[in-house]
Amino acid sequence: MPVSDADMIAAWNEVLTLSRLERGQVVTVLTSANTHPQTLSTAVIAASGMGAIVNRLDVQPVNGEKSLSRDSLGYVGTTPLTGNPAAVAALKESDLVLDLMTLLFSPEQHEILKAGTKILLAVEPPEVLARLVPTMEDRARVSDAAKLIEAAREMHIVSKAGTDMRCRLGQYPAIKEYGFVDEPGRWDHWPSGFILTWPDEGSSQGRIVLDRGDILLPMKTYLAEPVTLTITDGFVSRIDGGLDADLLRDYMTSFNDPEAYAVSHLGWGLQKRARWSTLGLYDREATIGMDARAFEGNFLFSLGPNTEAGGTRQTACHIDIPMRRCTVALDGSDVVREGTVVQDLQSV
Ligand SMILES: [Fe+2]
Repeated sequence: MPVSDADMIAAWNEVLTLSRLERGQVVTVLTSANTHPQTLSTAVIAASGMGAIVNRLDVQPVNGEKSLSRDSLGYVGTTPLTGNPAAVAALKESDLVLDLMTLLFSPEQHEILKAGTKILLAVEPPEVLARLVPTMEDRARVSDAAKLIEAAREMHIVSKAGTDMRCRLGQYPAIKEYGFVDEPGRWDHWPSGFILTWPDEGSSQGRIVLDRGDILLPMKTYLAEPVTLTITDGFVSRIDGGLDADLLRDYMTSFNDPEAYAVSHLGWGLQKRARWSTLGLYDREATIGMDARAFEGNFLFSLGPNTEAGGTRQTACHIDIPMRRCTVALDGSDVVREGTVVQDLQSV
């Protein structure tokens, strides 16, 4: 259902205020062929109305001829900024980049953040953005979860479907996604509301059993039957199951890259306003599935790169898998129990 320009401008005003945008700061809106025109126009109006100096940098899409999917996360690592120092320079000189394109998992993003520039990704359709405007409460809850991860040395995930995987923690930081950028050099994604980290290299062992109703991204499908991923020394060593397993295996094989099978970020959803069911209501090309990644109590399992955490694994294949009804424990204490968040009961 469409939203009005007035509602979108109000949403941007809220997000930019939470992001501490100040009069006279330079905002560069990064756009490409997939940028939503209403998101763009309302971002420019809101940022200009707050007294910012607003630029637009439009770049040509890349990887369309390589990717099997039209999803902006379907082929990661190289972006229109790869080999484009002029564009990188413009973004590094900005106080805030509004990324309406998807710069995620690229070395250029890290270079820009290191310059102190903030980057806020916003590529979901306007009505999803308007429904999931971030709040300070979101920030507080995600920050509490980050403290739990930072204090932990082991994560253990189990489910009645058969998941039983352990990994060590500590090599990589906890990454907070609460939907706005209130510190220099911070990246975030509107909408969000979840916590994640990466397991220590090679430490993940066991099995992940994806159950009926769990979600595969970027496929944007609900599994119709279980899929078992055998995890050995930090990598998926087997994919077993029926049709859904065949589809996942075929997609991942197309990248011809062993690094694609590495266990990537692990975490849990904390966003009460995001819904598991939303993905079933959308055309697959209309969304990248942030409701699925953020809905409260999901265990978000993923495969692929670790560059976002400062690692060196740069594979074009990235799979996110929000799972229901898992129990997630840190050093033996549950933070999610059968799909219900219980971290709030712990002292942080
Ligand atoms: Fe991911």
